[in-house]
Amino acid sequence: MKKNQFSLDESTDNYCVIGNPIAHSKSPRIHALFAEQTSQLLTYQAVLSQPDAFLSTVEAFRQAGGKGLNVTLPFKEQAWEYVNSSAARADRARAVNFIRFDEGGRIYGDSTDGIGLIRDLANNRIEIANKRILIIGAGGAVRSVLGNLIDEGPDEITIVNRTPAKARELIELFPEARGLLDIRSFDGLADGRYDLVINGASAGLAGHRLPLADGILAVGGCCYDMTYGKAADFFLDWAEANGAQKACDGLGMLLEQAAESFYLWRGIRPKTIKRNLIYQP
Ligand code: ATR
Repeated sequence: MKKNQFSLDESTDNYCVIGNPIAHSKSPRIHALFAEQTSQLLTYQAVLSQPDAFLSTVEAFRQAGGKGLNVTLPFKEQAWEYVNSSAARADRARAVNFIRFDEGGRIYGDSTDGIGLIRDLANNRIEIANKRILIIGAGGAVRSVLGNLIDEGPDEITIVNRTPAKARELIELFPEARGLLDIRSFDGLADGRYDLVINGASAGLAGHRLPLADGILAVGGCCYDMTYGKAADFFLDWAEANGAQKACDGLGMLLEQAAESFYLWRGIRPKTIKRNLIYQP
């Protein structure tokens, strides 16, 4: 039998994050810091799953006594199908990045990415209510946050995606917001219109540039990239060149979604630590 990618400490509660790739994950460091801050005893490790082995990896972790896990790319949709009970916000996103193994065999799933984004926008005093929002991308990352953005009461949300059919499919999942949602091509974005531009495309992760014209940001507009590090460089440079009042990468969102997961497992809400802490060895 194939050896498991994880080892559990039977004297404490064990958690993990499963993804592929996973070596880059900052989650073990973040949760270790949260545990230290809140005096919780637990372990949290990164687990690599082969693309076709997600379900067997999760099940092995559960049967070994794991208390819960986070799920990252490319398994969030599979995780939603795997859980046997889920939060409304996860059903809306059709994705789960949080799993908790409860008493009685219930496997509970939630999606904490959307609340992570909303909290980090608030931390950075970037407003959504009554604003004109442009979202770049229409994949899983955007689907995970769109419901939360709608709930914050923007004036409009325009979605621009390289493949327009995917943007159309996405907005059909949110019929309650039909009057609010608009789809544009990269060529059809309106000059000076958008108060907040959120990049949810994975182009930067592959080292690609977005075909984003200059001049579409409103005066005083802000920019937010849901990725971080090098992947966010192109978009944040574009934001600066276009006079963005604020421009943030998604590291704060990562911390906030982790804090929400920690709270759902442990019942204690950690303070979201200073972002530079997670770069320490
Ligand atoms: P994720 O889970 O990260 O959202 P995904 O579901 O594969 O991953 O979606 C990736 C998103 O980034 C899509 O909106 C994709 O556009 P397409 O629907 O046209 O594929 C977008 N994207 C990826 N590379 C891109 C590029 N080079 N230029 C523009 N958009 C890109």
